[in-house]
Amino acid sequence: MADVCVIGAGYVGLVTGAGLAELGHNVVLLETDPVRLDALKQHQLPIHEAGLDELVERYASRGRLSFSDSYADSIPHAEFVFIAVNTPAGPSGEADTTYVAAAVESLLEYASSNKIIVTKSTVPVGTGDVIAERVRDTGFQGIEVVSNPEFLREGTAVQDFLNPDRIVVGAGSRSAAARVAGLYSSLDAPVVICSRRSAELAKYAANALLATRISFMNEMSAICEAVDADIEQVARVVGFDRRIGSTYLSAGLGWGGSCFPKDLRALSRIATEHGVEPSILEATLSVNVRQRERIYRRLCEAIGPVNGTTPAVAVFGLAFKPNTDDLRESPAIDIIKRLVASGIRVRAHDPVAVANARAVLPDVEYCDEPYDAVANVDAVFLATEWDEYRQLDWARIRELMQGHVVVDSRNALDGARLEQLGFRYISVGRRGGHALQREALVQLESGVTGGL
Ligand code: NAD
Ligand code: UGA
Repeated sequence: MADVCVIGAGYVGLVTGAGLAELGHNVVLLETDPVRLDALKQHQLPIHEAGLDELVERYASRGRLSFSDSYADSIPHAEFVFIAVNTPAGPSGEADTTYVAAAVESLLEYASSNKIIVTKSTVPVGTGDVIAERVRDTGFQGIEVVSNPEFLREGTAVQDFLNPDRIVVGAGSRSAAARVAGLYSSLDAPVVICSRRSAELAKYAANALLATRISFMNEMSAICEAVDADIEQVARVVGFDRRIGSTYLSAGLGWGGSCFPKDLRALSRIATEHGVEPSILEATLSVNVRQRERIYRRLCEAIGPVNGTTPAVAVFGLAFKPNTDDLRESPAIDIIKRLVASGIRVRAHDPVAVANARAVLPDVEYCDEPYDAVANVDAVFLATEWDEYRQLDWARIRELMQGHVVVDSRNALDGARLEQLGFRYISVGRRGGHALQREALVQLESGVTGGL
């Protein structure tokens, strides 16, 4: 059991803190935002994340997880100091490490020998070296700096933290690597021990590769529409290839979130600063922008001119993906801004992200129920594939709407059924007219394989 301090109680810091408490350690979460800290002290979470409130409640009430804004009280007792503060995009796309640097300065005021500083934040390659140099400058002996990047996804963050695909430890010494790896010894996951710089770059590489797969499939979706093929069928075929795998092949409205966009831009900057042309990264970024524009144009074409009245669209889903209330770089927000700028009335629904959305998008009519959102609208635009939208009574929606257009930018709905109900159903990477339904295909496939 180790004494750990985690600096920054955001998505990563909170999950890391609660997760390390679950692994048996004593954790202090150090947070400088007074509003966030006050809420946390009352065990109220600032984010929507499945399973996190139970973990926080359990370990906070047992005294194994506590919250503080005092470096003086928290740092001296900690054997491990995790840095999990934000590293947002700077003006030219570079990762802004101001918060990391500030955390390092604050912690060094109260540090003593034999501590390990662990960077969890996603930081530019060489940041660990800069921190190590700063530690040396202050005259401390025996303080090690280790990179331990985090690969959790929002929405499944707790599950991902406790069941990671791998644990990465980038360290300058075997003993420091072993001590950090030891924190996770009760988890059943491969541990990759590597150099600090490799660990820092591997984090960016993983995000960039995942985003590139999605952009590739989004480009394929445009080709599918042009040649009358079906992107869902193409994805299924390539996904069965064990060398490729079936995840992160879903074409849609493009990727968003707090990390893919900023990390791709930051990696692109790292490349150019070191004289490497980031051709694939730049293509991945521009395909992502183009995909949103393509889908937005299809929505506008489908609504067409509406005689005498202001067109209205119901947007289903505001978060950048389901199961989170995070709106950072959400494609839905971008689409809504374009609609509002074109004079289109927007009525929006999201199961958990409406409160956050009100702050950034005031010119939208927010609805508690999807059925309210569709009242008299010309089109429904599904932006985020929350499960509840699949379960809706679409016949009722057809009656409540004025128009009959459904743009399913995540290929989440049953298009054949919607067409039967009289909707004009527009999805991604398929021209429509769902003659061969997915269901029928699956039945046909199981019939064929069953007979073999
Ligand atoms: P966040 O913005 O949700 O949280 C950061 C927290 O740090 C905030 O609460 C802020 O008040 C606090 N903070 C900032 N400076 C501080 C200081 N000096 N002392 C104490 N607290 C301070 O950020 P996040 O989404 O948790 O991301 C943190 C890092 O983890 C980023 O580098 C990000 O790229 C990386 N990451 C994020 C995710 C994710 O899913 N969000 C996943 C993997 C990695
Ligand atoms: C992503 C990575 O998956 C995590 O491993 C990483 O730790 C994290 O970024 C980070 O560094 O912050 P996250 O942003 O939570 O996690 O979300 P993902 O589930 O990866 O989705 C990212 C975006 O891609 C979403 O907008 C999602 O809608 C989109 N996406 C995902 C697709 O368009 N198609 C897919 O097939 C998969």
